[in-house]
Amino acid sequence: MLEIDNLSHVYGGGTPNEHHAIDGLNLSVAEGELLCIVGPSGCGKSTLLRSIAGLIQPTGGQVKVEGEVVRQTPDNLAVVFQDYSRSLFPWMSVADNVALPLRRKNMDKKQRREAAAEALESVGLENAGRKYPFQLSGGMQQRVAIARALAYRPTLMLMDEPFGSVDAQTREDLEDLVLQVRGHHQMTIVLITHDIDESVYVGDRVVVLSKAPANVVGDLKVDLPAPRDQITTREHSDFVHLRAEVGRLVRGHATV
Ligand SMILES: Nc1ncnc2c1ncn2[C@@H]1O[C@H](COP(=O)(O)OP(=O)(O)OP(=O)(O)O)[C@@H](O)[C@H]1O
Ligand SMILES: [Mg+2]
Repeated sequence: MLEIDNLSHVYGGGTPNEHHAIDGLNLSVAEGELLCIVGPSGCGKSTLLRSIAGLIQPTGGQVKVEGEVVRQTPDNLAVVFQDYSRSLFPWMSVADNVALPLRRKNMDKKQRREAAAEALESVGLENAGRKYPFQLSGGMQQRVAIARALAYRPTLMLMDEPFGSVDAQTREDLEDLVLQVRGHHQMTIVLITHDIDESVYVGDRVVVLSKAPANVVGDLKVDLPAPRDQITTREHSDFVHLRAEVGRLVRGHATV
């Protein structure tokens, strides 16, 4: 699904502010996989995500989605950004926000409206379509952003710290929502988070990035029983072991 080959990104190359955000990164993600990427703050996670999404062009190497080199945002790709308050249009109703990207698809107005209603239902917001984003709580707004991505029926969904700014309980609900929608729609998900526990809880696999310039310092398979459960999964001995392992890698104290 996704193949990242020797990817580098330098901001402000040749200027006094030159910054090497990513340096020769290799990574591949299989179809249907839910990959979590963790790494220290500022290491280059969002830069990596923007490169995958075709929002910026790498200064070295390449990204391939379904075998095609990414030069602009691939058609089958959706992104959920961290800052929901800036990713929803305040003057549009929730339903219109969700339906908006569908204009890029060959769908008439009725089909777009139905797809938006279905996506809102799948995130538990079937009654919020006529409301405006400011009338919803933060967690609900983030669910709208997720619904918008789902309505688009992407084969690859990228999520950049999607639960970074909601309370702990909402965060757990949204983690479970991702696992649940992923069970219903066949798709590959790359989720970026700085939360080590979250990466192990939702991921099939966790990739750990180093400090800047970002590179892969750990790649761990998460073999926890499904379905995952906020209480029992987190007390599972494999969970406890894996989060320690990821924690060591993030802090640069790898033991393996
Ligand atoms: N447009 C830009 N111009 C110049 N430097 C940038 C730009 N965007 C990001 N950077 C720098 O690149 C580095 C990586 O930024 P990036 O946003 O990818 O990190 P991150 O891992 O997502 O951080 P966080 O955990 O805080 O979200 C940072 O040092 C940042 O200052
Ligand atoms: Mg970031």
